[in-house]
Amino acid sequence: MNKINSIDEYHEEYAKSVSDPERFWAEKAETFSWHKKWNEVLEWDFHGPSVKWFKGAKLNITENCLDRHLENNGDKVAILWEPNNPNESSIEITYTELHSRVCAFSNVLKRNGAKKGDRICLYMPMTPELAIATLACARIGAVHSVVFAGFSARSLEDRINDATCNIVVTADGGFRGEKIIGLKNIVDKALENCPSIEKCIVLKRTNEEVEMKSGRDVWLHEELDRVDDVCPAEIMDSEDMLFVLYTSGSTGKPKGVVHTCGGYMVYAEYSFRNVFQYRDEDIYWCTADIGWITGHTYIVYGPLLAGATTVMFEGVPSYPDAGRFWDICDKHKINIFYTAPTAIRALQACGIDFVNKHELSSLRVLGSVGEPINEEAWHWYNDEIGKGRCPIVDTWWQTETGGIMISPLAGLTSLKPSYATLPLPGIQPCLVDADGNEILGNDVQGNLCIKFPWPSMIRTTYGDHKRCKDVYFSAYEGKYFTGDGCRRDEDGFYRITGRVDDVINVSGHRFGTAEIEAAIDEHENVVETAVVGYPHEIKGQGIYAYAICHDPKVDMTSFIQEINKTVTEIIGPIAKPDKIQIVHGLPKTRSGKIMRRILRKIAEGDVSNLGDTSTLLDPSVVEEIKTGAGLV
Ligand code: PRX
Repeated sequence: MNKINSIDEYHEEYAKSVSDPERFWAEKAETFSWHKKWNEVLEWDFHGPSVKWFKGAKLNITENCLDRHLENNGDKVAILWEPNNPNESSIEITYTELHSRVCAFSNVLKRNGAKKGDRICLYMPMTPELAIATLACARIGAVHSVVFAGFSARSLEDRINDATCNIVVTADGGFRGEKIIGLKNIVDKALENCPSIEKCIVLKRTNEEVEMKSGRDVWLHEELDRVDDVCPAEIMDSEDMLFVLYTSGSTGKPKGVVHTCGGYMVYAEYSFRNVFQYRDEDIYWCTADIGWITGHTYIVYGPLLAGATTVMFEGVPSYPDAGRFWDICDKHKINIFYTAPTAIRALQACGIDFVNKHELSSLRVLGSVGEPINEEAWHWYNDEIGKGRCPIVDTWWQTETGGIMISPLAGLTSLKPSYATLPLPGIQPCLVDADGNEILGNDVQGNLCIKFPWPSMIRTTYGDHKRCKDVYFSAYEGKYFTGDGCRRDEDGFYRITGRVDDVINVSGHRFGTAEIEAAIDEHENVVETAVVGYPHEIKGQGIYAYAICHDPKVDMTSFIQEINKTVTEIIGPIAKPDKIQIVHGLPKTRSGKIMRRILRKIAEGDVSNLGDTSTLLDPSVVEEIKTGAGLV
């Protein structure tokens, strides 16, 4: 069953995974259903990079998520869906029903011209149809590219064009708390500049009036009436692409991280089962959106591969009030609850009354993901939500890693607040110093790399393999570089300290500072911007923008509104700056490079020790910025 049952077993498994990784993963892979087994377990070279797991094997991941469970577990609930509005009924979809609905959706895709290898964009609210559409793509061998439905038309357009998608699936609108988001209108705007799109399939969810472009747009419910629910799964090669998911880096536009079928499947299930110590009767809820990697691996694939009941929530934690998460935990008797530190901090700030109205007695395991969890939030989560009896798994991983890499195994690994603790079997982390030398021993700190391949690792960045090599495999010879800083304590436990590159993590969402700068620069009054992150009580990091304006004597209230509008249009509302400071100059070196280190310090409010400023072209710039003049 691939389940680790004690900490001693963990250490044994870990040792095996390092001494003979191929044998280790072959054993794990045996439990899945394959059309053909592999000729070779692993072929790899981190210089290419080229990594192939289960080479020559044939499979379809949806047969493992669905068909495999039908005989013994067909009546078990696969997806338990909780709507935005608590007065609307929740929906239970059994494995048998899910199988049938995925097959029908697959036939809708095929009817609309989808073929194996096509890229299909999903821009949808958190309805069951999003999970179904994801699986339907996988069933017919199309590559899904889910775009979080909070991104703007411009972001959507860029992602559709980068992967040259031919179909987009969306909804008329989406409910988010009190708000209705007009998704189809956003798609229409994006599609003005997306020549590769031939069809747009629209789910009716909010009953918004939308325009349907004849020949291009079709209603999902009408299409479903025209198909049956028989759809044999396309047989895929283990290394065929399963999905592309866009994520931000320190430079350029977001890149499409590519994951493939076989290795991703094995690791998604293995990590799900072990980290959460999943039991067959568990009700499991991950509060992420499927638009992020957490939703891909730990709402859809991991739980369904394990035959679990996975809860999907359409709404937001604050609607109708800040007790909604706890309400859902009691209502559906959630046993495993997985969320982000930003949500924990936001709910903590709303007061304990929202928690105390609920029993929370079904909870057994709590999870955290997306950003470092500070000790205060950890203790609140542990004491008030877990009532001191639920282990917290602080799971460190990334879009690129496909699955959880460093985390306690619930109830087995001893816990230490703010530590992700130990690597999963098969994961070989190492810390490196600025010169790229591996830092050995314990009680050390450095940049976090992974020195051996794992099954669910990134294979390439869509359409630009060189970028994948440059970003992840070039900084340190022969190693995958995560972009994170990390401490390994005296017991060998890992603590992620945050990004060491120009990526900021706002409420668990990743942005490149350059990406936000480019958006702000589009405002007509802005000459140049520099964006940095700063500690934010709820969001983890906030966005601090220093802007040089053509006309610095602006009405600040309307300037902020305009900047927010510009950023919302170009990226999405989640990338709006929290603070803007209008400045006359930015601290630049003689070669023109902005010294962000100084700006970061000022943003953190630490102006006493700005370090060496002698290499600056104009050190007086710093004096002005330091005073906080022009800050709003
Ligand atoms: O900096 C780390 C942080 O989030 C980054 C990855 O972001 P993304 O690809 O969007 O994936 C988020 C969900 C897996 C990492 O480089 N991060 C993620 N989890 C943790 C974390 N930082 C500290 N502790 C974590 N548990």
